[in-house]
Amino acid sequence: MYDGMKIALIGFMGAGKSSVAAALASRNDMRVLECDERIVELCNGKSIPEIFKDEGEGFFRSKESEVLRLIVQENVDVISCGGGVVTQDENVQLLKEHGYRIVYLDAPFELLCERVGGDPSRPLFYDKEKARQLYGEREALYRECADLILPVGEQSASSIAHILMQLLSSSKEEEKKESLYSVVGDPICHSRSPLIHNAAFEAFETTKYYFAWRLTGDDCKKLCRLLRSGALAGASVTMPLKEMLLEQVDELTDSAQAIGALNTLYLQEGKVVGDNTDWSGIVRSIEEQTPLVGKKVGVLGAGGTARAAAYAVKEKGGALYIFNRTQEKAQKLAEQFGGTSGALSDEDGIRSCDILIQTTSVGMKPNEEHSVVPAECFRAGQVVLDLVYVPKETRFLLFAKSAGAKVIYGDRVFLWQGVRQSEIFSGGKAPVEVMKRALSL
Ligand code: ATR
Repeated sequence: MYDGMKIALIGFMGAGKSSVAAALASRNDMRVLECDERIVELCNGKSIPEIFKDEGEGFFRSKESEVLRLIVQENVDVISCGGGVVTQDENVQLLKEHGYRIVYLDAPFELLCERVGGDPSRPLFYDKEKARQLYGEREALYRECADLILPVGEQSASSIAHILMQLLSSSKEEEKKESLYSVVGDPICHSRSPLIHNAAFEAFETTKYYFAWRLTGDDCKKLCRLLRSGALAGASVTMPLKEMLLEQVDELTDSAQAIGALNTLYLQEGKVVGDNTDWSGIVRSIEEQTPLVGKKVGVLGAGGTARAAAYAVKEKGGALYIFNRTQEKAQKLAEQFGGTSGALSDEDGIRSCDILIQTTSVGMKPNEEHSVVPAECFRAGQVVLDLVYVPKETRFLLFAKSAGAKVIYGDRVFLWQGVRQSEIFSGGKAPVEVMKRALSL
């Protein structure tokens, strides 16, 4: 039944790597190895705290790499890695080169404290603040190298093992399927989608489960197969797959078709449907403040994000004005959606808009102090949305605020596109307040 998939489990101590590895071994007859156990063997039975104390961390890390090199040669199915294995790039590279899928068991710090806080064999947790600091440092490394990020909460080890088998095994054997949802793309390490969707699932007391999966263009076909087979019930799609998947799905909704990108996948009557909820996120963020109908709406930019904004404006009966650096692109977009095009230098034109939607990437780079348009483009009474959400307070929004405009932060759009997705996934209403809280909004 099992087809030779190889898994390396990573995560902080207490995340459940050993238990999940044991569950995988017992269910599926897989060969499992504990990296730390091997190191102890290699050091003649000396315990890991003893190795650290007597020989230092450098020695331990060199043994860890040595053991890993041996284990991958043995073609073991599941490796339960030590918590610090990710601190050395060569270890991560080695696992990847040998075809291991790196699975990060993502447990919140408080849960780890509950699990191992009182365990005398885990001296790291004697000093909680030190442990927290190390957790912060390691978490970033885990996320960056992981192929799958599985949030760990109430799930038992055997349920996590079941989820992994459902996703990774090509076995045709019929088992009870879990309702699994995922954000797919690359990178996925900073995605907040698992946060809002798992909060929503918990609020509804469902057993649905949401995780993050690093997939690239080559995986599109496989992803659709998983959806068709029911192994995956739905997905949120992020870069670079939003456009790549258009050709792979069985059906596209009108919005996905018109925008030329999808961000949501689900199964309907046996067919994989590609939908777009980004435009809905834009609509709901703005309409919390003011209706779009009959308003003069300026979209700044003419790229992919601007297409979702243009669609949103037209769907809700706004008058569309596209302002862009490159005129031909502005004209093309305006033609497609029935709007008027202009230049970013048209300050009077931009200021005359009732609503402004900033869709360019300007403001996104770390420490970028620029705004795509100057302060003269804003006035009191305008409603101004910036789709850049990191940083939250862009120079663009600061200008708008100073002019007395009402500003809407980009993270609002993330919330509302997720709310629409949640409605699709649940086939009903979404618990908006719970999802807002999950994002600290
Ligand atoms: P996305 O899919 O995120 O919208 P995109 O398709 O690359 O990204 O589009 C980027 C948009 O940001 C474009 O409208 C681009 O303007 P051009 O069409 O002239 O290239 C705009 N943009 C990027 N950097 C810019 C800058 N420094 N000043 C003005 N506009 C900029």
